[in-house]
Amino acid sequence: MRGIVVRDEGVALEDGVEELLSDEGILVEVAYSDLNYKDGLAVTGRPGVVRQKPLVAGIDMVGRVAESNDERWAKGDWLVLNGAGLSETRHGGYAELARADSDLAVRVPDGLEPEQAAALGTAGYTAALSVLRLVMEGLTPEDGPVLVTGATGGVGSVAVMLLSAAGFEVTALTGRPDKFGDYLRGLGADQIVTRESLGQPGRPMQKALYAGVVDSVGGQILANAIAQTIPHGTVAACGLAASPDLPASVLPFILRGVTLAGIDSVWATVEDRADAWRVLARGVDLDQLDAMTSRVGLDDVITAGEDLLAGRLHGRTLVEL
Ligand SMILES: NC(=O)c1ccc[n+]([C@@H]2O[C@H](COP(=O)([O-])OP(=O)(O)OC[C@H]3O[C@@H](n4cnc5c(N)ncnc54)[C@H](OP(=O)(O)O)[C@@H]3O)[C@@H](O)[C@H]2O)c1
Repeated sequence: MRGIVVRDEGVALEDGVEELLSDEGILVEVAYSDLNYKDGLAVTGRPGVVRQKPLVAGIDMVGRVAESNDERWAKGDWLVLNGAGLSETRHGGYAELARADSDLAVRVPDGLEPEQAAALGTAGYTAALSVLRLVMEGLTPEDGPVLVTGATGGVGSVAVMLLSAAGFEVTALTGRPDKFGDYLRGLGADQIVTRESLGQPGRPMQKALYAGVVDSVGGQILANAIAQTIPHGTVAACGLAASPDLPASVLPFILRGVTLAGIDSVWATVEDRADAWRVLARGVDLDQLDAMTSRVGLDDVITAGEDLLAGRLHGRTLVEL
């Protein structure tokens, strides 16, 4: 069985990954995975994701149960598992055979084919968790526009799509408006703003524009987005594509009642996972998903990871095993 293994000496596609697997969880024949920002870091040997070696990379897996001692899962069931330590402390989805945590895996939801679930992957599932959080905090389309940062990325693209499908007015922030403006409008963006427009240090309280924010970039852009959120609006912070820093003031929180909501997809409860996957099955336009998805095999994942980190990709990359 082949898989992409991260070792102290480097990262490579290897044979014999079944030798690495423990007997925890249920055995899965992996059919698909995908490429996320964290996968880009792991397969290019950068630090910050893989915490023990050797480890099979891939933070997502979609596959069929091959063997199970857990009565909730039968041989042949299709499951999707995102995060849950995959590619951090547990062997991940870039292998033809894997072990899955049967407590955190969810069934591929009705309305999505297994490969569509994989194309959405952690990025799509995180976008859904973020949108669900905004709605849980009381956000409705009547409250005003929602800003999505890193809009051409995986999280951003799916967030634009889900928000638009739910009737929200969406403002997409991107560093590539000329190249991808039409793409973002096709996903449902109503306005497009440039990365530069929020990229410089600004006042702690600015003109209140956005009822909600889905932020996957962090840093100065997140600080300015918070400063432009309307009273009692919510900012869902889920990423750090620009920076892990938050050079912000508490003023929007104490004078406007803005909520800063953190999103953690890795250890989300199984109930939240199932909710997010139901939202994706209902809210994603499958033709658009197909149009924004590129496909690679295991042989090309490492090169695709370099491309992702260099900002040469957009949308989603499906990995076919
Ligand atoms: N909280 C969680 O559990 C969770 C789950 C999934 C992902 N994440 C995080 O969310 C972030 C996005 O993930 P993803 O899979 O969507 O990645 P991605 O596909 O690489 O997209 C990131 C997007 O951010 C923008 N961007 C890149 N570099 C930037 C910079 N220096 N300054 C400002 N914007 C920049 C780009 O969009 P434009 O070209 O349109 O500006 C890029 O397409 C990552 O930090 C990832 O680790 C967190």
